[in-house]
Amino acid sequence: MTAGPGDDRPRAPRILLGVSGGIAAYKAAELVRALVREGAEVRAILTRRAEAFVTPLTLATLTGHPVERTEFGEPPSPSILHIDLVRWADALVVAPATGNVLARFARGLADDLLSTVYLAFDGPVVVAPAMNPRMWDHPETRENVARLGHRGAVIVPPEEGFLACGDEGAGRLAPLEAIVAEALAAARRSSSLDGVHVAVSAGPTFEPIDPARFVGNRSSGRMGFAIAAAARARGARVTLVHGPVTITPPWGVETVAVRTALEMREAMHEAARTARVVVMAAAVADHRPAGPAERKISRKEPWSLELVPNPDILAELVAARRPGQVIVGFAAETHDLVERAKAKKQRKGCDLLVANDVSGAGSGFEADDNRVTLIDEQGRAEPWPLMPKRQVAERLLDRIEPLLAERPAP
Ligand code: CTP
Repeated sequence: MTAGPGDDRPRAPRILLGVSGGIAAYKAAELVRALVREGAEVRAILTRRAEAFVTPLTLATLTGHPVERTEFGEPPSPSILHIDLVRWADALVVAPATGNVLARFARGLADDLLSTVYLAFDGPVVVAPAMNPRMWDHPETRENVARLGHRGAVIVPPEEGFLACGDEGAGRLAPLEAIVAEALAAARRSSSLDGVHVAVSAGPTFEPIDPARFVGNRSSGRMGFAIAAAARARGARVTLVHGPVTITPPWGVETVAVRTALEMREAMHEAARTARVVVMAAAVADHRPAGPAERKISRKEPWSLELVPNPDILAELVAARRPGQVIVGFAAETHDLVERAKAKKQRKGCDLLVANDVSGAGSGFEADDNRVTLIDEQGRAEPWPLMPKRQVAERLLDRIEPLLAERPAP
């Protein structure tokens, strides 16, 4: 983020502020002032209903930019307004976000300027909902919020209190300082890994027994895919090496599809030649059948399968570590999580290790959420709360970035 060619000064973070039509829209004027005070450049989009609560003139005066209200600009402009806006913005912040906006974002509807911008924007999104407590508690709203969280939006939850409608409960727009802090952090994240190559492995490996059968595991690839998506959203060039999965790769990452541990090993060594960050999130099969049969094995009883150990890819990558490289491992555990994870980090020699409890329901394999414990550089255990895998990914990148800064690229 620099001011211009030959100028090393960082330019102002660019915040695109969407204001939707609830009574809290009147706070948008104060929010703009607070963002500008913190050095941000702000452009505002008002939904049609928001104009009933705050005027375009107020926000135009405070932002120093015309306020956008329709998809086609006023007066109509030949350029494609929503694309211009998403190219301009470092972060999209929606405050207040009504129940209606959350529903439209969650379903990908694009029937006005704000929802079209949301669909076209691939940078960080911050959403600060405000509505009546009953609407906030409605299962549809909860589901929409969860969906947005899984897609990577930061939700600044509403607070408890008395609302304009006379009801009491959670629904009041979060404090402006909290929204400003998240908005600035999001804008910073949009380019914090610019020019950095990140290699991520994800999913299971399938080890053939014969042409029809394999030994595999239950990994879905979601955690590694979330890390790849989060790194890409921060500007990184991402290579995602993944085993057999059914989920769709994130937009804008280079994918290398592999099947076996030996194929994954080769692809990860190749990616690690240029990567500054290497994350082994894959559930690599520890063993493979010795000499898989060329023909389908017929039913025979009893039958025993001889397994031989696979190479430990993570340990190999650590042994071949390039100067400046940060290497992160994962650990899938079902018991004695902290103790085993600490020992594993020590054994494998990676910089950070994310320990995953795969025994609990709603976390670990196949789930959208994850409860992990980070083993930090010093070997200390830090339990993180249950959260969407995308948020685990963001927090992990927040921990990787300072390590990168400490170790300049060769
Ligand atoms: N890993 C690897 N190569 C393997 C096995 C695991 O690179 N053959 C990596 C995983 O991607 C993960 C870390 O090592 O980042 C730990 O994986 P895990 O399966 O928890 O540990 P193991 O080394 O298999 O140890 P154990 O089975 O004894 O728990």
